[in-house]
Amino acid sequence: SIPIFTTVAEYREWRRRAFVENKSVGFVPTMGALHEGHLTLVRRSLQENDLTVLSIFVNPAQFAPHEDLATYPRTLERDLEVLTEQQVADRQPSAVFLPTVKEMYPSGINQDVSQQKGTFVEVKGYGEQMEGKSRPMFFRGVATVVTKLFNAVEPTNAYFGQKDIQQALLLRRMVTDLLLSHPSPDHLHIVPTARDATDNLALSSRNAYLSPEGRKVAPALYASLQAAENCWSAGGSKRECVDAAAGIIQQWVDQIEEQGWAVKLKLDYVDMNDAGDFEVVGDEVVQTEKGGEVVILSGAVYVDQTRLIDNILLGSV
Ligand code: PAJ
Repeated sequence: SIPIFTTVAEYREWRRRAFVENKSVGFVPTMGALHEGHLTLVRRSLQENDLTVLSIFVNPAQFAPHEDLATYPRTLERDLEVLTEQQVADRQPSAVFLPTVKEMYPSGINQDVSQQKGTFVEVKGYGEQMEGKSRPMFFRGVATVVTKLFNAVEPTNAYFGQKDIQQALLLRRMVTDLLLSHPSPDHLHIVPTARDATDNLALSSRNAYLSPEGRKVAPALYASLQAAENCWSAGGSKRECVDAAAGIIQQWVDQIEEQGWAVKLKLDYVDMNDAGDFEVVGDEVVQTEKGGEVVILSGAVYVDQTRLIDNILLGSV
């Protein structure tokens, strides 16, 4: 079975050996409740590294007091089982880092930001828009915990999902700004979003919250983003394409009403942002004006109380 390290000190002993033996260490940070999306990252790491470490830590600092910290799915036994089943060529995951809250937050951590003490990491200008708009302290919590995880794990390569594109690009910015070397900015890899094979729903731990009818309408988000993508490649303006996406969501809302399904679908936002600086694309801008620059087309919907996110990259990072 895979060795599990619950303290930084224990892990570091293992890590020291890998340094001495000159073995590369791939790292996949997670909050557990592993699904095929996480496992895509694990397999990519197994392919590209001698050793692969996965962390499981439900990070209190990235949950607002009203969010789902207490009820976030925790499935440790199953997680360890599916991990041991992963194999690429002759490689399997080498270690699981499973720290306690106390280990990760030596100064303690309060859910109430005004009560917090200690050290936090902020990536200014990158965490306020898109996902950060409806979750103001979210990326501060993510940047803080990932800095700690990088300091503890000291990975050669780290793997993040495109599913959370703002998170991945913000962390690459952070690694650059803080002059981190484990990983270096070009060793922070972004892996394409794993989707349900039949309806393209982006895999997510939060999909577990969906009722059967919720699950049926959840693919509306990606469908709406695809409509915006088509509009954009056909030369539509940002405004027209975002409207096209909203139109698809509205069609689903109408259908839910007509069919009398017991589920509520609500668009939170769809927008386009520059992938380099996260600036909002102007309403009248069209694709040809963006030249070779990459644009993030992202959106979020509520399916009942569950907030789902997804994105498409227009261009490639
Ligand atoms: P978590 O939501 O568990 O996700 C862990 C990693 O899996 C993230 O990099 C995420 O983008 C990736 N992932 C999730 N669903 C995916 C999918 N369908 N396809 C590809 N990758 C997917 O993201 C976090 O945890 C936390 O914020 C964390 C980075 C661990 C910091 O606490």
